[in-house]
Amino acid sequence: MTSADTAMDDGTIAVIGAGYVGLVTAAWLAETGRHVRVVEEAPERLDQLRRGIAPIHESGLQELLTAVMDDGRLSVTDDIADAVRGAGIVFIAVGTPPLPDGGADLRQVRAALGQLKKHVGATTVVVIKSTVPPGTTQALIESSRRDRLKAPVLTCPEFLREGSALHDCRHPSRVVIGGDDESAQARVAALFEELNTVVMQTDATSAEMIKYGSNAFLALKISFINEMARLCELIGGNIDVVADGLGTDPRIGRAFLNAGLGFGGSCFPKDVAALDETAGLHGHYFWLLKAATEVNLQQRRRFVVKVQEAVGGSLSGKRMAVLGLAFKAGTDDLRQAPSIDVIRQLVDFGAHVAAYDAVAGPKAAEIIPNVTICADAYECVRGADAVLVVTEWPEFITLDWRRIAGLVRRRIIVDGRNLLDEHVLADLGFTYVPVGRRPGKKSLRRRNASALLPSPAVG
Ligand SMILES: NC(=O)c1ccc[n+]([C@@H]2O[C@H](COP(=O)([O-])OP(=O)(O)OC[C@H]3O[C@@H](n4cnc5c(N)ncnc54)[C@H](O)[C@@H]3O)[C@@H](O)[C@H]2O)c1
Repeated sequence: MTSADTAMDDGTIAVIGAGYVGLVTAAWLAETGRHVRVVEEAPERLDQLRRGIAPIHESGLQELLTAVMDDGRLSVTDDIADAVRGAGIVFIAVGTPPLPDGGADLRQVRAALGQLKKHVGATTVVVIKSTVPPGTTQALIESSRRDRLKAPVLTCPEFLREGSALHDCRHPSRVVIGGDDESAQARVAALFEELNTVVMQTDATSAEMIKYGSNAFLALKISFINEMARLCELIGGNIDVVADGLGTDPRIGRAFLNAGLGFGGSCFPKDVAALDETAGLHGHYFWLLKAATEVNLQQRRRFVVKVQEAVGGSLSGKRMAVLGLAFKAGTDDLRQAPSIDVIRQLVDFGAHVAAYDAVAGPKAAEIIPNVTICADAYECVRGADAVLVVTEWPEFITLDWRRIAGLVRRRIIVDGRNLLDEHVLADLGFTYVPVGRRPGKKSLRRRNASALLPSPAVG
């Protein structure tokens, strides 16, 4: 019997990949009393983690990380052999970024499985937490068996949302465990026993379909409300009121019906594209997914056109102040953020762009070099021909807009998230351009329905 075959302890867990999913999952597992070893290969992330610093922004993560590292329940390494020694369960939470054709790049997942082969035996359960297209885990199970990986392989797709990732780990809407080894599934299910949530055990492909179906459906909802918003701009009506009215129908629900700059981030765009690509490989033309993606891209272009119109037709030489860079509030993640597309278009049209985002700003400098990244919102808006709200950070609502009125060159706001109070701004002399209603149309929304309806962040 090799050391890899000795009885394993499900109270000892290894997590490969210290990103938004891996690190948050690891910290939560440690919080529940397990001993967790995190493997990270990126030198910068590893270095930060070794110094006890969370390399990503997630509410509550730094505090939890400090607590579980201090009491020895979570440790970090770049040595996979060291990490999986004695571990009953190994989670793979590496990236599956998009390929140029829209498919998911599975190289990190395959590499992690390859590394595990030498170090885990039949009594360890390997769980793929990364999002992989339907059919992938089953294929990996078969190829892993051929490659003599003794451990059972399952999929347990992750549903957490950036910005509330820790909360979502502690209170998941459901846990889905896919595979063909019932006893391995039961061991993984036991990790979630105390959570009082639905734990579904199913085949691997159904589990993957649930994950992709969820993200694709939410993306469709966002694109649908953005199409409705466009109709409101053309015909009349107020999209926020319309969304509240639609959302009170329990068959529809209010979540993900916020009109605006559409979806971005590391999941929706890539998962919609990967599901579409997978459908195509199987001979199915998935119209709805293509439409959702196209509407989403149009929404960004339309926003730039609105800005152009608001400043009188030409952006050449105009100063634009962009408030918000992260793909949504609560995160520092800039992957596929609408801000990047919008800013590139503004720059292409000859505008000078200054941007502010308290959390994502520092990371943005490398991605959008032609932009001045400002240390605060007031510096950002100084001399601006228009102020553009791109991310729904709540702090923008409570800015001193009277002060801003005195700092800008022209009092124009194009609000890509319908975040600000148009009446307050109108009183300060701003021209306010919202999404999904004609500027200046009074909104009765806030007085009644919204009190009943939670309005979760988009994306
Ligand atoms: N970010 C989200 O909100 C979210 C939500 C649900 C599901 N997912 C899925 O979870 C997966 C991970 O997403 P993420 O956002 O955490 O990615 P991420 O890029 O933030 O993190 C992945 C980490 O894995 C590390 N890594 C890759 N290969 C490794 C290896 N062999 N050994 C050690 N470390 C390795 C990378 O260096 C990186 O730090 C993706 O498939 C994603 O689609 C993400």
